[in-house]
Order: sequence, then structure tokens, then C-alpha cells
Amino acid sequence: MIGDLAHARVLVITGAGISAESGIPTFRGQDGYWRNLDPTKLATPEAFAENPKLVWEWYAERRRWIREAQPNPAHTAVVTLAERAGDFLLVTQNVDDLHARAGLPRKKMVQIHGDIFETRCSQCDGIGHDHDQPDEREREIAVCKTCGALMRPGVVWFGEQLEPRNIDRVEEFLAAGSVDLALVVGTTALFGYITDWATRSAGKLIEINPEATPLSRFATESIRAPAGVALPRLVDALCREGSGA
Ligand code: OAD
Repeated sequence: MIGDLAHARVLVITGAGISAESGIPTFRGQDGYWRNLDPTKLATPEAFAENPKLVWEWYAERRRWIREAQPNPAHTAVVTLAERAGDFLLVTQNVDDLHARAGLPRKKMVQIHGDIFETRCSQCDGIGHDHDQPDEREREIAVCKTCGALMRPGVVWFGEQLEPRNIDRVEEFLAAGSVDLALVVGTTALFGYITDWATRSAGKLIEINPEATPLSRFATESIRAPAGVALPRLVDALCREGSGA
């Protein structure tokens, strides 16, 4: 498929679909709705400006779901791939910590949409802590100790810019040599930067997603199956191929 894995450069891009089998709802589609509200409308600066309490309630609930969830076989397969590949980077759009809890070192991953367990000021550079935030509905939203504005989740919302240092890490990986395999798992791939990174230099582009996406037409191979089933199989095949078995 790609030859010797130990000398291959592998880029993995994941989205909400990889955590679906851990019980974390994806964003789009009926499953993602929360109290009849569309998450793609809640994850916006406008929603926070209009009703910060509601937005925080949704994030508090997502934090709880994530804490209670466990990494699934797809997260574990990503770790195996990272250990076996010559050079490896994971770019995840997920703000959960399931890749990290599966054992993937932080230096091998970029959380391009931030980290749900971080909290920051909605106006200045102030950083907060998880326990500052309302986990129950009655509690007030924490305010920034520096400027007094409301604290918000440390994630990237629709219409916001990505962190330049995160973009730099992806660009540095792409600039360091051609990518032998780009593996895109569980994302609708609606953002231009995701399609761009996936297609830019990949020798081989494999997509794992039960549904077709805008990326499908660029894929060398599309595996229409759940990540928890398809990814361990694929990684196993790549490892066997790499060892000449
Ligand atoms: P979406 O919720 O848009 O898409 C989830 C994708 O996973 C869909 O394409 C599903 O077909 C697929 N899927 C579902 N179950 C799966 C499974 N078991 N195995 C593999 N694939 C499965 O999530 P993302 O594409 O990650 O951004 O969405 C991207 C971004 O939109 C999120 O990071 C977030 C969201 O709004 C921001 O908050 C900026």
C-alpha cells in the first residue's frame, strides 16, 4: 500500500466521527442536536454574545460526556500508527481528549479547534481553569481576573481564526517532506484548510467515513465503514505490509 511504514511520513486528520463510537455526539446530523438546538449555531461567537449561559451549559454537558467516555479502538489504532510510522502528525478537529487518553503524545498532535477543557477570556488573553466554570445551571459564569469580561471555552468557534502556532505546526510537517499517506477519519471535511492539508502533498489519501464527503472525490480509497472497525484493520494491514509479513 505505502511500503515500509517505518520510513513513511503519515498525516492523520480526524473529526467528530472518530469519537462517535465512544458515545460523543457528532456536530452535524440529528444526533448532534442538543435540547432541539443545532450545535453548529451554538458554537459561534454570536450565540455566546446572545446567551452565554446557554452556550456554557452545552459545553459543560459536553465536558461531562467526554469525561465519562473512553477512547475506542480507532483512537488506539491511531496510537499504533504513530508508533510505527517514520514520521507522524495527527491533526484533529476534536476538542475532546480521547486521542491523548488513548496514549498519543501531545507532541504528535495538533488540536486545530482547541481544547474543550481549556477556558479563556472572551476579550483579552486571560486564561482560566476548568473549575472556574459552571457545571450546574445555577452557577454564575466566571469572569476574567484581568479584565472582568466573561470567560469562554478555549475552542475555535465558527467564523473564528485558527491559532497561528497550530497552523505553523501543520505547515512545518508538510514542508518537511512529502506525505506518503494522508488518512482522513470521521469528518465531513467542510473546512477548506482540512481539504487542503489532506490533498496537498499526499501520495495516498484514504478516507474512512460511512458517508461520502467533499473529500471523497480526491481519495485514493474510501472506506465506508465506522472508524472503530475500519481503522484497526487498516493499521494492522499497514503494519504487516511494513514488516514484510
Ligand atoms: P461532523 O459532525 O460535521 O461530521 C462527523 C462525520 O463523521 C460525518 O461525516 C459522519 O459521516 C462521520 N461519522 C459518523 N460516525 C462515524 C464513525 N463511527 N466512524 C467514522 N465516521 C463517522 O464533525 P466534523 O467534521 O469533525 O468545529 O466537524 C468539524 C467541525 O465542525 C468541528 O470540529 C466543529 C464543528 O462545528 C468547530 O467548532 C469550529
